[in-house]
Amino acid sequence: MQKILIVDDEEVNREILYNILKDDYIVVTADDGGEALQQLQECHDEIVALLLDLHMPNLDGFDVIVEMKKNDWISRVPILIISAEHAIEVENQCFQLGVSDFIHKPFVASIVQNRVKNTIEMFNCKNELEIRVAEQSRIIRMQEGRLGRLEPFNKMMIEYSSAIMEVETRLKVLNSMFSEEYKRNPFESIKSRLKKPESIYKKLERKGHPITIENIREYITDVAGLRVICSFPDDIYRLAELLVRQDDIILLKEKDYIKEPKSNGYRSLHLILDVPVFLPDEKKYIKAEVQFRTIAMDFWASLEHKLRYKKDINNTEEIERQLKVCADSIEELDYQMQEIRNQIDNPGDAFFCRDT
Ligand code: GTP
Ligand code: MG
Repeated sequence: MQKILIVDDEEVNREILYNILKDDYIVVTADDGGEALQQLQECHDEIVALLLDLHMPNLDGFDVIVEMKKNDWISRVPILIISAEHAIEVENQCFQLGVSDFIHKPFVASIVQNRVKNTIEMFNCKNELEIRVAEQSRIIRMQEGRLGRLEPFNKMMIEYSSAIMEVETRLKVLNSMFSEEYKRNPFESIKSRLKKPESIYKKLERKGHPITIENIREYITDVAGLRVICSFPDDIYRLAELLVRQDDIILLKEKDYIKEPKSNGYRSLHLILDVPVFLPDEKKYIKAEVQFRTIAMDFWASLEHKLRYKKDINNTEEIERQLKVCADSIEELDYQMQEIRNQIDNPGDAFFCRDT
């Protein structure tokens, strides 16, 4: 339960409020401003609302508000004034000082409960929004600080998303031609993603390069990322070859994790390409990473990916072992399915050649 603090010099008021709120909150009380400040000093982080009387001997409610402002507790603890005061000037003065709401005496239980609940909820919402805005501003400032003006960065990101569109279009064209000829689609789907600025910065830092536009272009090859999901292993090689064969696409690097799987069982064909993008005033080559894999392997990779980012798994080794077994079975299954497809497509062929 959340903790609220009630400050009133009259015991009867503290008691009434305590009884109204005790079922929903841990209620702590103080009988004057000095004691309230002492409690706030000790546990302002835990208190989710302060119900504050205005007129009290020694330190009154206003003094408490002023002290809370000085210590910046006012931005963390919402204040509801509890008072018999009905003067509009006094209420306005309180709102100007930053209090959230007013509860008038005599107390009506349901009104008190609702006002306290709403105030706490609204205050939390406001704080969460402020944190989110501050985080966004921090990211923008960081981008500006590291990359100078934002404009070149944004332009670069548009170039990368154009490279994604370019590759996607070419693959879709191949798909249409292929499906016309062979009466089936060589790929099931294409997924694409533009790497997030935060991930780009982190990767560049990890690789030990200062964050500049030039370094992003040079060292990060997967800002534009595409994943082509095929039904059969031979479609992967056929599609990849048809794409790379296009005379304006440059193959910068190929990693064939199908022929040489990673030790965890990961199988995919990765191509790093330089793709021409036509901009208003020039033609520019932009890097894109294309991963080709089978449906079954895509399913495997997304599960395996989850394992990497889960921190609270204690039997990691056993899960890794099981995943490796699955990856090997998937390979077996992919080629078996391919063989069945061949038998359906070419009923006369007695043999199936695995390396296409
Ligand atoms: P990254 O720094 O992650 O880009 O790796 P890399 O530069 O060594 O390139 P690599 O071709 O090995 O991996 C590129 C991408 O392939 C990764 O970002 C993942 O999306 C995917 N990938 C590579 N290895 C694995 C793996 O073992 N499991 C899964 N699920 N995905 C992988
Ligand atoms: Mg990557």
